[in-house]
Amino acid sequence: RSRSTCCSHDITCKVMMLGDSGVGKTSFLIQFKDGAFLSGTFIATVGIDFRNKMVTVDGVRVKLQIWDTAGQERFRSVTHAYYRDAQALLLLYDITSKSSFDNIRAWLTEIHEYAQKDVVIMLLGNKADVNNERVIKAEDGETLAREYGVPFMETSAKTGMNVELAFLAIAKELKHRA
Ligand code: GTP
Ligand code: MG
Repeated sequence: RSRSTCCSHDITCKVMMLGDSGVGKTSFLIQFKDGAFLSGTFIATVGIDFRNKMVTVDGVRVKLQIWDTAGQERFRSVTHAYYRDAQALLLLYDITSKSSFDNIRAWLTEIHEYAQKDVVIMLLGNKADVNNERVIKAEDGETLAREYGVPFMETSAKTGMNVELAFLAIAKELKHRA
């Protein structure tokens, strides 16, 4: 139903950030939007928040409306209500957290339950800058992504590694579909 908002020239696309609390969804979005990283105290997102950012793909202006969800379990019902309007999902885990990686399967089950059938999904292994605390190998992320047929990248909301690239890949895919 929301496919109508994704049409030829000026496209608006709804992208949702998903993943366990603390994986870096809000930081990832702030890095993309403002080019900044706020280290220090972790402030968990409450409910849902959104930011817009324009990107240009092959000369076409694409407005990304990015929904930043709360990873905490108690806000899950709020997130569920937004799934069906999303055209793309960025699903994050933290390469220093085994539980956040193990929970990716549960996230994908939830996605299949609540999201549009043709939603664009990208799996991201975030916090790639903290290599000395790494517990999930890049190959493990790749293997999981291949199993579900989704693209995969390692990223860092801190250094900005692959942050813009991930959003541009999403925008490009949605532009091609529009
Ligand atoms: P919820 O809102 O509870 O779902 O969490 P979140 O996924 O939005 O996590 P958030 O962006 O708030 O980041 C959690 C903590 O991890 C913060 O202390 C961030 O500074 C830190 N962090 C996020 N991304 C990175 C990263 O790429 N590298 C490093 N080193 N730290 C990160
Ligand atoms: Mg957050």
